[in-house]
Amino acid sequence: MKFLKVENSRVFEFVKQEDIEKFQSDITKHHMAILEKRSKGNDFLGWVDLPSAINNEIIESIVQVAQKIKEKAEVFVVIGIGGSYLGSRAIIEALNKNFTFLEEKKEYPIIIYAGQNISEDYLSDLLEILNKKEYALAVISKSGTTTEPAIAFRILKSHLEKKYGKPEAKERIIAITDESKGVLKKLATDEGYQTFVVPDDVGGRYSVLTPVGLLPIAVAGFNIQKLIDGARTMQELNLQTSSFEQNPITLYAATRNALYRKNKFIEILVNYQPNLYYFTEWWKQLYGESEGKEGKGIFPASVSFTSDLHSMGQYIQEGQRILFETILSVEKPESELIIPNDKNNLDGLNYIAGKRLHEVNQMAELGTILAHVEGGVPNIEIKIPKVSEYYLGQLIYFFEMACAISGYIIGVNPFDQPGVEAYKKNMFALLGKPGFEMETEKIRKTISS
Ligand code: PA5
Repeated sequence: MKFLKVENSRVFEFVKQEDIEKFQSDITKHHMAILEKRSKGNDFLGWVDLPSAINNEIIESIVQVAQKIKEKAEVFVVIGIGGSYLGSRAIIEALNKNFTFLEEKKEYPIIIYAGQNISEDYLSDLLEILNKKEYALAVISKSGTTTEPAIAFRILKSHLEKKYGKPEAKERIIAITDESKGVLKKLATDEGYQTFVVPDDVGGRYSVLTPVGLLPIAVAGFNIQKLIDGARTMQELNLQTSSFEQNPITLYAATRNALYRKNKFIEILVNYQPNLYYFTEWWKQLYGESEGKEGKGIFPASVSFTSDLHSMGQYIQEGQRILFETILSVEKPESELIIPNDKNNLDGLNYIAGKRLHEVNQMAELGTILAHVEGGVPNIEIKIPKVSEYYLGQLIYFFEMACAISGYIIGVNPFDQPGVEAYKKNMFALLGKPGFEMETEKIRKTISS
């Protein structure tokens, strides 16, 4: 069995081995507290056992519903924001072949996302396309009260009902929400929608291995059992590896915290495969919302190389020395493409003729690592053999556990997000939501002064 690997040898120009090792006792303490569910925010530790605890009944029922959707729909709209869509999108985009959306005949529905913004043009364009397509949708909100998905759902529900009539529209809507609380739960019960439950003890950004992530991934045609198996192997490795240095999770958590203590405040997650772009978006949300509070936390950023070497590369090489990079390195691509020889060699590329494109990409990766380390940017590498359900499952559990441990080292509760309320309060006040009259008054005065 192969596991993802963490390689941290390229941080030692910036931190010493002792700087990393000094987290050992702290990490062991936090690690135990997480496993025994007695740490800060312990009401939200359901994800810790999820890979081994998820039952076959749920998996089977997700697969069955996915099959039904496949029979009815060419397009499946996933309505959700933050943790309610980023996990599924990360996995679907990572596993999808590039450009399948251009194919005439598709085996599985195309997954489209809504409710992750409030752009009028975005939703209008979507409705225009949906006029011409057979579609179904999932509305996903743990709280069942989040404004962005609620607005998108109201608009799409009305569109769906006009297009198919109410009884058929009902068959095309799946609600994924709390077991008993929230407006969405009530609406789904009243309307008689098929529903799946977001477990109480799993927060949005840790919910990819619940129906929140699994249903859209299954509809897109990917193997959710393999994803769970991958996560389960990482869960087992984490439980069985008592050596702090040999456990990739604790090694990563300790290394990034050692760098943070040396004023490396920004971590950039780097990919060299464009299909990992949304994986880095998922990671940013996981780490940003979990760690960034009380004036603390490593700022999570991301880049796609080599594209961004021609934009952010300059800053990374020579800007403020407050960065470190973590590379998501993929050993083997799915396909093989050889650079052809050219008789005239006008472009001067014959020196790489006969090489696989991946080899060039790997040399770009190594060359960039060396340049950035020399320029003052420490480097951690996370290596996976290939992009597959199994290894993505490993990565999910790896990053979730490392994030929880890191949050505790930093001294925050990694499972809340109190800061997200600030913009909502102002938006509700500005829109005149009932119950926000005092805030409306206050905000009017601020704006006019
Ligand atoms: O991680 C989180 O908890 C958040 O990002 C939520 O997922 C996001 O705010 C959406 O919340 P909800 O699912 O309640 O609509």
